[in-house]
Amino acid sequence: MAGKLLITAGPTHEPIDAVRYLANRSSGAMGIAIAEAAAAAGWAVTLLLGPVDRDPPTGVRVARFESTAELMGLLDEHFAACDVLIMAAAVADYRPKGGGEGGKLERRGSGLTLELESTPDLVARCAERKRADQVIVGFALEEPAKLAERARGKLARKGLDAIVANPLETMGAGGIDATLLTADGRAESPGAMPKADFAAWLVGWVASMTR
Ligand code: CTP
Repeated sequence: MAGKLLITAGPTHEPIDAVRYLANRSSGAMGIAIAEAAAAAGWAVTLLLGPVDRDPPTGVRVARFESTAELMGLLDEHFAACDVLIMAAAVADYRPKGGGEGGKLERRGSGLTLELESTPDLVARCAERKRADQVIVGFALEEPAKLAERARGKLARKGLDAIVANPLETMGAGGIDATLLTADGRAESPGAMPKADFAAWLVGWVASMTR
């Protein structure tokens, strides 16, 4: 069944002050490729896209976010209506406490210490509210030596149906050599391939889960 697919992509920008932010190197390429593959397969796609230079694909509904807080608001708005959530966004784990409030920080000779607070775990929040007919897929980017073990831990801890375990080298690369780990204990590795091909493979797997 090709129903409604919600996909998040790109990094978050966490405000330090009115002009500065903390970010990460995510390009959004994998998530954008999944949005494109899903639309081509007949899904009604909503792409929640972070601050990236790439254009979103045509034929998908797009909402833009910058911070984790904004992405949380968009997920609250769109999650209930989707059949599948694929969480490819590289959400920050920490953000400056009180970030963005109070204008621009002045330069001082004495240096600056930023206090960071944990961000909410957005995909785990969605999983808590998930209906039995919804499927949630997460992503985990890890050092190769710890990849499977850490990704399995996240799959269980966050209450996901599956997680794409990605070696760290994937960030910024054209290709991907990932393993899909599922909540029922399976591991499927389609091999090294361009991100567009992996996207089509993952969309095929998701379709088989929602049939
Ligand atoms: N994720 C999320 N909310 C966060 C952090 C991560 O929803 N605040 C999601 C990501 O979109 C991804 C999955 O959780 O689908 C795994 O992200 P990752 O950063 O690898 O996991 P963390 O829980 O942040 O674990 P760690 O930083 O310890 O590796």
